[in-house]
Amino acid sequence: MRTRPLKVALLGCGVVGSEVARIMTTHADDLAARIGAPVELAGVAVRRPDKVREGIPAELITTDATALVKRGDIDVVVEVIGGVEPARTLITTAFAHSASVVSANKALLAQDGASLYAAAQEHGQDLYYEAAVAGAIPLIRPLRESLAGDKINRVMGIVNGTTNFILDKMDTSGAGYSEALDEATALGYAEADPTADVEGFDAAAKAAILAGIAFHTRVRLDDVYREGMTEVTAADFASAKQMGCTIKLLAICERAADGESVTARVHPAMIPLSHPLASVREAYNAVFVEADAAGQLMFYGPGAGGSPTASAVLGDIVAVCRNRLNEATGPGESAYTQLPVSSMGEVVTRYHISLDVADKPGVLAQVATVFAEHGVSIDTVRQKGKDGEASLVVVTHRAPDAALSGTVEALRKLDTVRGVASIMRVEGE
Ligand SMILES: NC(=O)c1ccc[n+]([C@@H]2O[C@H](COP(=O)([O-])OP(=O)(O)OC[C@H]3O[C@@H](n4cnc5c(N)ncnc54)[C@H](OP(=O)(O)O)[C@@H]3O)[C@@H](O)[C@H]2O)c1
Repeated sequence: MRTRPLKVALLGCGVVGSEVARIMTTHADDLAARIGAPVELAGVAVRRPDKVREGIPAELITTDATALVKRGDIDVVVEVIGGVEPARTLITTAFAHSASVVSANKALLAQDGASLYAAAQEHGQDLYYEAAVAGAIPLIRPLRESLAGDKINRVMGIVNGTTNFILDKMDTSGAGYSEALDEATALGYAEADPTADVEGFDAAAKAAILAGIAFHTRVRLDDVYREGMTEVTAADFASAKQMGCTIKLLAICERAADGESVTARVHPAMIPLSHPLASVREAYNAVFVEADAAGQLMFYGPGAGGSPTASAVLGDIVAVCRNRLNEATGPGESAYTQLPVSSMGEVVTRYHISLDVADKPGVLAQVATVFAEHGVSIDTVRQKGKDGEASLVVVTHRAPDAALSGTVEALRKLDTVRGVASIMRVEGE
């Protein structure tokens, strides 16, 4: 084994970084044996130098992250600061100073992955980011490497633990959204400001990364259609149950039927209880992949948390260190298909629509006509009337999202339709 250690600079020592440092120390001998050389923590950049950081020698702590990545003797820079800047500049500076990078930063990768890959390639360095999507779950490497010989058609996943915890609570206890969010906050599953999670921004960043890798094309955060889950109600869950479904916030990346384009979207959807994703409970994540030759695969596990996320970071550190010893680099960006990303209007799926209508003869026929006029075919209709008012639940066959939007707009204009109580897509059938 080589005795000269490979040097790792840690940028950030918070929830994830502190666990990366701990595992590097406690597993040092095993890591050295697996890599073929010892790995050494050479510096740790933080914002607050005086904070007590157990197990980290004080002389390694610095507030000058730029000087650390410019040292020139660093082999691997681990970026676990988060956010776009200064992370982006630190990563590109690291490449320019002969270091490879391991990052957990989904926000940055979804926004600017292409330019980071380009900088890595320009300087002959590695960019690994297994921890950026679904925490501990091996997903990026299976998609980038294990399935590199197959053709992936669909990636559908629960990639945000906070929202899955909230929806699972609503499902099992009958709680409303606010009550379930309060519980998630009290238990530490939701942050004080939960916007990034509940409005689907976090899941959209992950969808962009997954779609790009799965379909070998560039998908940016702005290409991902996004709807949060704050409007999901206890009544939606009751409707879902009547259909043998539950509700999940899903990230869905699909290749179009003609293979000429792709779509990426995040929104709440009903899925049948028989679908493997329906049984993903609490704050767990899972990603369901459909490929030509492999068929259906599911990846499941903890999608966040210091120690699970650090596991993925450590796997990347080992991979990058092995590459360096072999004077090689791992896979770079693969965007050769250049498939365009279609808008949400072109997505084809099924819908569950709940309408409040007047309870009088002819209403059902009127509503059915609007669906037919927009080319949306109805699968089932359920009507319940009381005191002159009625609720009408329509489940459609597969139709383009744009046709459904047109249908709903026209329904709202009918005198007999008092309101559209909810529209939910139905997936996984
Ligand atoms: N937490 C998770 O479960 C999880 C899961 C998957 C991916 N990730 C990703 O991992 C990354 C880190 O998340 P985290 O939860 O560990 O964040 P965190 O607990 O807030 O830690 C951030 C760390 O970065 C340091 N920092 C902030 N600005 C800095 C700067 N300008 N220069 C140097 N250091 C700076 C902070 O220093 P101080 O300690 O001095 O404040 C802190 O140590 C993010 O990209 C996140 O999306 C997190």
